[in-house]
Amino acid sequence: MHKKLYIPGPIEVSPEILKAMAAPMIGHRMPEYARLHQGVTDKLKKLMATQDRVFLSTSSAFGAMEGAVRNLVGKRCANFCNGAFSDKWHGVTTSCGKEADAIKVPWGQPITAELVDQTLATGKYDAMTLIHNETSTGVMSPLTEIAQVLKKYPEVVSIVDTVSSMSALNIPLAELGIDCCVFGVQKAFALPPGLAVFTATERALTRAKSVPNRGYYFDFLEFAAADEKHNTPSTPCISLIYAMDAQLDRIFAEGLEARFKRHEEMAQYLRGWVMEQGFGFFAAEPYRSLTLTCATNDRNVDLAALKKGLGERGYAFDDGYGKLKGQTFRIAHMGDMQVADLREITTQIEELLK
Ligand SMILES: Cc1ncc(COP(=O)(O)O)c(C=O)c1O
Repeated sequence: MHKKLYIPGPIEVSPEILKAMAAPMIGHRMPEYARLHQGVTDKLKKLMATQDRVFLSTSSAFGAMEGAVRNLVGKRCANFCNGAFSDKWHGVTTSCGKEADAIKVPWGQPITAELVDQTLATGKYDAMTLIHNETSTGVMSPLTEIAQVLKKYPEVVSIVDTVSSMSALNIPLAELGIDCCVFGVQKAFALPPGLAVFTATERALTRAKSVPNRGYYFDFLEFAAADEKHNTPSTPCISLIYAMDAQLDRIFAEGLEARFKRHEEMAQYLRGWVMEQGFGFFAAEPYRSLTLTCATNDRNVDLAALKKGLGERGYAFDDGYGKLKGQTFRIAHMGDMQVADLREITTQIEELLK
């Protein structure tokens, strides 16, 4: 039995997308691929409101996240940490041999513009990493305010993970001035996993030129050279790129404003239900994520039993990430989901909790 996915990634993939993935194979050095690649990167640029380079990486998000620190950290990196994925990114940064500090706030709290300002004002850093939407805790940090502060520090290359936020709300990269934005496609894009996207400003590419030991697979300069021919350095996941092409067409057919509004409506519905049911929120106000809700288990429900019960009914449910297991549960509201899908799962949960 297929379990309908309500976990915060991978997200349920529509049959239309699965069909797009079944397109006959082409060679990545054939003109057909260059046309597909250019079409997809042009559409991504439109979505992200940027003319910066957009690269397609055949990897999960962490591949491109590791690549970003390998290419862009010269002197020292400030890794802002407020959850499991940002903590892990710090570990990845140091394991690449980079000098880095973890600038930590408690899980559930956002990274604020003030914290970024104070940290960068020390003059110690030439790069920083930030996770816009910490999927482990359901916290969305204030990216617009942070981006404003980053403009004070032109020597600092900014690397931002929008893994679980890109396409659910407006993230206009050029206006924000983000040097490198990274995301995977199995979250708000509702595609099967295996493709990551990253961007690079000219400033980022100039930094990469000065950084040794960039390796090969994620070398930004290899990507930039291949991009001149609308291509990738090594064989890409062509089926997923077909899927991305189809999904971008669907995104523009829905309309960006309508898509952003749908995500707001889903978040509002779920937050309302969480309160009505007597649960709380793990994320501090007003930093609750738009794409998933991390609820605190204030009713002391046996979440493992609830997960099992939902599984038997054909639903995949998340009973908390890592150290938050049992204390919180997370429900995704992103991708192709509708409020009606959320009503379906909340009705099931209510029945099981009776
Ligand atoms: C915010 C965030 N960053 C990074 C990752 C890691 O992505 P991947 O497993 O695709 O490498 C995830 C996965 O859930 C995530 O939610």
